[in-house]
Amino acid sequence: MTQQILRGRILSFNRQPEGADDHCAYTYIEDGGIVVSDGKIEAAGEFYNLPNNIEVIDHRPNLLMAGFIDTHNHFPQMQVIGSYGAQLLDWLNNYTFPAEIKFVDPAHAERIAVKYFDEMLRNGTTTPVAFCSVHKTSADAYFAEAERRNIRALGGKVLMDRNAPDGLLDTPQSAYDDTNTLIQKWHCRGRGLYVISPRFAITSTPEQMEMAQALVAENPTCYMQTHLSENHDEIAYTMSLYPEHPDYLGIYEYYGLLGPRALLGHSIHLNDRERSVMAETDSVAVFCPTSNLFIGSGLFNEERTRNDGVRIAVATDIGGGTSYSMLRTMDEAYKVCQLQNRNLSPIYAFYMMTLGNAKALGLETDIGNLDEGTEADIIVLDASATPAMALRMETVTTISEELFVLQTLGDDRSVVETYVAGVAAKP
Ligand code: GUN
Ligand code: ZN
Repeated sequence: MTQQILRGRILSFNRQPEGADDHCAYTYIEDGGIVVSDGKIEAAGEFYNLPNNIEVIDHRPNLLMAGFIDTHNHFPQMQVIGSYGAQLLDWLNNYTFPAEIKFVDPAHAERIAVKYFDEMLRNGTTTPVAFCSVHKTSADAYFAEAERRNIRALGGKVLMDRNAPDGLLDTPQSAYDDTNTLIQKWHCRGRGLYVISPRFAITSTPEQMEMAQALVAENPTCYMQTHLSENHDEIAYTMSLYPEHPDYLGIYEYYGLLGPRALLGHSIHLNDRERSVMAETDSVAVFCPTSNLFIGSGLFNEERTRNDGVRIAVATDIGGGTSYSMLRTMDEAYKVCQLQNRNLSPIYAFYMMTLGNAKALGLETDIGNLDEGTEADIIVLDASATPAMALRMETVTTISEELFVLQTLGDDRSVVETYVAGVAAKP
């Protein structure tokens, strides 16, 4: 048995904060320790209360917390980030689809998978949820690399059988068969979990949506991810393809794709009916602030969505998004809320990146906090990592202020170490 204590200031959330001053929502210990045994957290608490016969890795004065979770990004879009001058549909056609076609080559997929998980861990993200390309081999590359590093990773090959270049099209039957093969191979293997991934209604025929419906019905422990109401032209085009449905969400509803394991990327321009169906079905709206700003899609109304009872997760949406960092992501989330005259507190932001996203995935007994028995995916953060941060930190007196400095000025340089199942793994 391998056992270690990670010593430092420790922060872990117990529940969703109810306001900026809800200090009962988290546990913060000035001189704390986390006992890690065989990749799991055995205990966390005051350092002086922990056994004194275990090797100690001293991370003081840095902050230890659960690794970040990124609930929506695109593994084949690493070379799309920062593509100029287009909104969603042109951005897909001009930049994204050509980049994804290259994933027909397993060697390319394997090379990018290495870079992808390097970038996740460099930024403190220990659990990503990824769309792979349409090619089965891209999902193989994704899960194989995650398994090699023992990372808890969720993902799936996209289903798309129309409105894209030939090199990116499957068929309803091949999408069904390939997804089934991938589920058999990767779902619940080690730390991998499979996500059935119809890309969005525009790129799936009704026949393919029926196949997605069958996959979801036949695999109740798998997740489902897609895109919803990101951009006005996208919505209009979608409704022209599916005119018999009441609205965009109504298409996914009709094909039985909604539920507590359904992750709906963007969900920006929802009508009242869509909001209530999202809430009734316990589906998750995924807020992707850097992408929503960069592609010019719109301002996600976080407060309204939450008050309507819709579950919310946060994500980078790489490569529409502009940063791999969940810190940068929540900085932009804060600005999106500011533009709507609302505040997004640092306590809530850090909750969202950790326990909030874990709950959105129903994985809070495994990841997203430092509770006994959870997986030891832990990050070490330094809020003084750059000269500008160190100068700003001179005036900081509370943990909330420190978190806000991390969120506003931090990035991968603030991530001192990333532990994956107890093993130091920052590249
Ligand atoms: N909608 C359908 N596919 C995509 C994608 O790859 N990125 C984003 N941002 N939206 C999408
Ligand atoms: Zn996306």
